[in-house]
Amino acid sequence: MRLSLSGRSAAAAVIAATALLTTSAISTAATGSPGTAAPQRAAAAPDIPVANVKAHLSQFQSIASANGGNRAHGTAGYKASLDYVKGKLDAAGFTTTVQQFTSSGRTGYNLIADWPGGDANQVIFAGAHLDSVSRGAGINDNASGSAAVLETALAVSREKYKPTKHLRFAWWGAEELGLVGSTYHVRNLPAAERSKIKGYLNFDMIGSPNPGYFVYDDDPTIERTFKAYYSGLNIGTEPEREGDGRSDHAPFKNAGVPVGGVFTGASNTKSAAQAQKWGGTAGQAFDRCYHASCDSSSNINNTALDRNSDAVAYAVWGLSS
Ligand code: TRP
Ligand code: CA
Ligand code: ZN
Repeated sequence: MRLSLSGRSAAAAVIAATALLTTSAISTAATGSPGTAAPQRAAAAPDIPVANVKAHLSQFQSIASANGGNRAHGTAGYKASLDYVKGKLDAAGFTTTVQQFTSSGRTGYNLIADWPGGDANQVIFAGAHLDSVSRGAGINDNASGSAAVLETALAVSREKYKPTKHLRFAWWGAEELGLVGSTYHVRNLPAAERSKIKGYLNFDMIGSPNPGYFVYDDDPTIERTFKAYYSGLNIGTEPEREGDGRSDHAPFKNAGVPVGGVFTGASNTKSAAQAQKWGGTAGQAFDRCYHASCDSSSNINNTALDRNSDAVAYAVWGLSS
C-alpha cells in the first residue's frame, strides 16, 4: 500500500486552501517576537502521516482480538483501548483526565486531554467515541476517528504548536449505548465552562470502505473550514444526513456549543451519482460491516482515512490559531 504517497499529494493540494484560510486569521500572539510589530501568519496544519493512524488501528484490532473480539463499554477491551490512548498522550505532554460514569450497571470512562497553554476562555475541542459495539472490533466505527484524533493530538506535541486558543481532545465511552459518555460530560460541565467551548469537532466513522465525503452542516464557520479543506483536494462534499444527532456532537449542540465534523457513511447506500463523484461502488452501503463482526482491520479505505485525518488537523489548526 502506497500510503505515504497519497498523504504527500493530499498535503500539497491543501497548501492553497490553507493559505486562504489563514490570510484572514492573522495571529499576533504566540509566534510574534517581542518588539516586532509585524503580524505573524498562523502556522499551517501538518500532514498527518496515515501510516501512524493505521498503526493505531492495528493496536485497537490487537486489543479487541486479545479481549474477546471487541472493545465495547464495560469490557476489558474498552479499558485497554483507553489505557493505550492515555499512555501516548501522557508521554506527549498532555494533561489527561479520566472521567468515570455508570451505564447499564457497568463503569464507563471518558478520556479528556488538555494541551497546556492557549486562551483558557476560548477552547477548541475535538473528540471521537472509543467504544465499539459488542459484535466486533469497531475499526471503522470508531477506531478510525479515535486514531485520527489521537494522531492529531500527537502532531500538536511534535510540532510544539502554540495555538492562540486552548486545545482539548476527548475519547468518549458508551457512545453505542446512546451517546452516554459525551452526554454525561456535557451535563457535568458548569455553564461557565460550557460557554468557553468555541467549537466541538466530532469524528465518528471516517474511513468507511466505500466512502462518501460528508460534512456536518451545523455551525457555518466549522462547516466552511472542512469544505475549504476538501475544495483544496478538488473533492465535492455533501452535507451529513445519515441521522442527525446520532453521534457525540449532539449533546454539545443541544447545549449551545457550535459543532461540526466529517463522516464517510454507515449503512446508507452509495448512489450512482455519488460513485461517479467519489469512486467506489454504487448500490452498496458506505460501510457493509457497520455494527457487524467484519468491522475489523480490513474494513478501512486508506485514502479516506488519510484525507480525513488531515482534515482533523486542518480544522484543529485553522480554528485554534
Ligand atoms: N454514531 C453512529 C454509530 O456509532 C454512526 C452514525 C450514524 C453517525 N449516523 C451518523 C456518525 C452521522 C456520525 C454522523 O453507530
Ligand atoms: Ca496525511
Ligand atoms: Zn456505532
